[in-house]
Parts: sequence; C-alpha cells; structure tokens
Amino acid sequence: TQARREAALAVLRANRREGYTIPSATLYPFQWNWDSAFVAAGLASADPDAAATEIRTLLDAQWANGMVPQIAFWTDATGYFPGPDEWGAGSDRVRTSGITQPPMVVPAARRVADALRRQRGGSAAEAFLDAVVPALDAFLSWWLRERSDDGDVVYVRHPWATGMDDSPAWTPVLESFEPLDLPGVDDLDYAREDRKSESLADQRPTDWDYDRYVALVRQGRAFDWDEVRLREVCPFVVEDVLTNAIFARACADLGGMYDELDALGEEGAAGVDAADRWREQAESTREACRDRLWSPALGTFVSYDRVGERRLPANSVAGLVSTFGGLPDQGQFEAVRTNLSENFLSYERACPSYVGEGMDLDRYWRGPVWVNTNWLLADGLRRYGAADLASRIERDTVSLVEREGFREYFSPETGEGRGSDRFSWTAALYLDLTD
Ligand code: DGY
Repeated sequence: TQARREAALAVLRANRREGYTIPSATLYPFQWNWDSAFVAAGLASADPDAAATEIRTLLDAQWANGMVPQIAFWTDATGYFPGPDEWGAGSDRVRTSGITQPPMVVPAARRVADALRRQRGGSAAEAFLDAVVPALDAFLSWWLRERSDDGDVVYVRHPWATGMDDSPAWTPVLESFEPLDLPGVDDLDYAREDRKSESLADQRPTDWDYDRYVALVRQGRAFDWDEVRLREVCPFVVEDVLTNAIFARACADLGGMYDELDALGEEGAAGVDAADRWREQAESTREACRDRLWSPALGTFVSYDRVGERRLPANSVAGLVSTFGGLPDQGQFEAVRTNLSENFLSYERACPSYVGEGMDLDRYWRGPVWVNTNWLLADGLRRYGAADLASRIERDTVSLVEREGFREYFSPETGEGRGSDRFSWTAALYLDLTD
C-alpha cells in the first residue's frame, strides 16, 4: 500500500499545473470542476495546502453571476474538443465552458478546512474559510436563483453538467429532439478528440450521444449562455438526482462552514443566520426530492425531466448516492439498501454505475465502476449506519486500483481498467481510502 500511495502522489504531481490538477494528460488537459473537488477532497489529509490551492483556483474561474464552470481553460492546451472557441464563454480572468457540474466543491472545501485545522491550526483554517465561503455561498445561491423552478430542487441543462455524461437516464430526453432542429443550431460539423486511441472507441459515448451534446453547446453559445432565454428553448432541463444529492449536502456543509467561522470568532450573528438558512435549505431540498425524485417501482431515486414533465426511470448509482445528501427517509433507505444488495452487489466488483436494460460493462457511465461514485456511496451508507456495505464498497475500490492502476473506470465483471490511465481523482481518492 505504501508504494501505491507514493505512486498516487506521483500521478497527482505529474498532472499538476499552476494551482490546479488536470484530470488526465491524455483526455482532459484543463481544469475540470468536480474533478478538482474530488482531487481536493482526496488530497485533504495527505497535502492540505495543495488541496486548498486546488479549490481556490477553481473558484477563481467563477462567473460574475456565481456559476462555477465545468471547465476552466487556464492554458492553450490542444487535443480537447469542445475547446474555448466552441464554448465562447468565460470571465475577464479565464475562458471557460458554459455549463457547470455538481457542486462537489462545497463538501470538498469543508474537508480541506477540517484538515487545515487539524494539521495547521485554527488560523490556517480561518484564512481558507474567509477566502472561499463567500464564493461558495454565491455558487449555491446561483443554483437556487437561476436553476430551480421551486426554490428547492435544482436542474441542469446538459448531460455533461451531471458528470454522468452518457447515463441511460438521459436517453428519453436526448431522443426528444433532433440536433439540427434546435433553435440556434445551424450545423453539426465537428471532430471528436476523445477517441484518438482505437481501444477507447467502445469505452466512450457514441456519436449519436455526441451529436446531441454538441448541439446543446451550440445552442447555449447562440443564446449567449443567457439562462432566461435558454430556459425557453433548451430541450434538456433535468433535475438530476446526483446533482441534487450533492447540492443538499453542499447546503448542509456550507451551514457547517459558517458555524466554523462563527466559532473562530469571525462572522458573529450574520454567520449564525447564514448557517441556519443553509441548513434549512438542505432540509427543504431533501423533502422536495423525497417527493418528486422517488421511484417506488425501482426502489431508488431517479431524475426528473422538466420539459417532458416525467420521471426518468433508470437504476443508476446516482440513485444510491442520494444517501450522500441525506435524501432518503428511513423507509426509502431500506428500499435503496435492498436495491443495492440485490441488483448492484450481484456483480463481481462494486459498484456498477448502472444496471438494467442497456447496461454496457465497458462504456463510460453505462455500467463501469467509478471510484468517485463509490467514494460518495460509501460516505452516504455510513451516514445511514450501513458500515458493512460501506466497507465492502471501499474494499472493492482499493483492490481494483491495486490490481489495475489509477484507471478512469473499471469493468464490474472482470475488474479490468477502462478509459484513461493515471486519472487524478482515482489517485486522490485512493489516498483517502487508504489513509
Ligand atoms: C467530456 O467527456 O469531454 C466531458 O467534458 C466531461 O466533462
């Protein structure tokens, strides 16, 4: 394990650029939002200063309206599509993509603050919290202001914003439109960069999916990334369960960070008010999700399509990760636990990203095991007292990495590594799991 930990640190050092870590040198040569959050969360104990820098750099890419973008193009690296010209978005500081990703940066920041307090003392934690809490508050406020119809459940406008790009959950929504019929989309000429290596062809999303991803990007750019106008024309408006689970946890964790600042003597009464407000938000988001995103038939949480006004039934690991945000009530948790045991843990390696019709053991988010969702799930299961299941998932994760290396994802049947190698969040979260 010690040698593996050294190797993990070496991967992260090699992928580190100025102030941030790229997800992978072969596929993703810029700063990605939730990748950086997982890198920071995983690295918090091993190197709290690097973890703090990772988060501060990500927040430097924040838009004036509070959105923290999915990609920050800090350099002119080549070899990625769609690049900065295709997105046509950003701030004075940096060009970015036009969408966001699940607000994992908030729970990650809380872990970093805890690690700083333990290892560097109260004033280091305080300096970090002072620097990041206003930006995190602006980010979560942006979600509620611009990305919610009811002030509780939040939505995304692109499959890439969910982080689970080609989940079968999105298929009914992607089938509901023809890419070239979308307002704002004039052409669909483009060249993929993500399948340069032959061997990746069966492990990445299909061209059918990609045409729709690109059309949604071109539509966003045509409408200047204006949320109000896009809400009228965008066919993909989805209350994603994973985003909402992380959002609910983020609200609770932001409340916790205000408490921490208060205890450090900083915020006074304003801090107490903000702490209460964010904790209440977490609770009302959970309650709204229990109602709208629960599928009794599947025994799990699912996403909701606001354009088609329907649930998107898919038995995905995202539904299980609802536990990370405290979404399930006790009865729902029992159903989730049964679903996990019967349908997911029947595979050799926990935990497939999707089970059911259309499962593909090798393709991206349609079946393979991912280290980040396993890590979220294990955390969530512990919150619900299911330590035995959490340990099983952590054990499988560590053994996959020890056998195959720091791969992007793994086959749940054979355990073979898939996607890119030397993948940053796999390395970072391995450090946390073996701490
Ligand atoms: C991709 O696969 O290129 C997406 O941007 C991931 O976020």
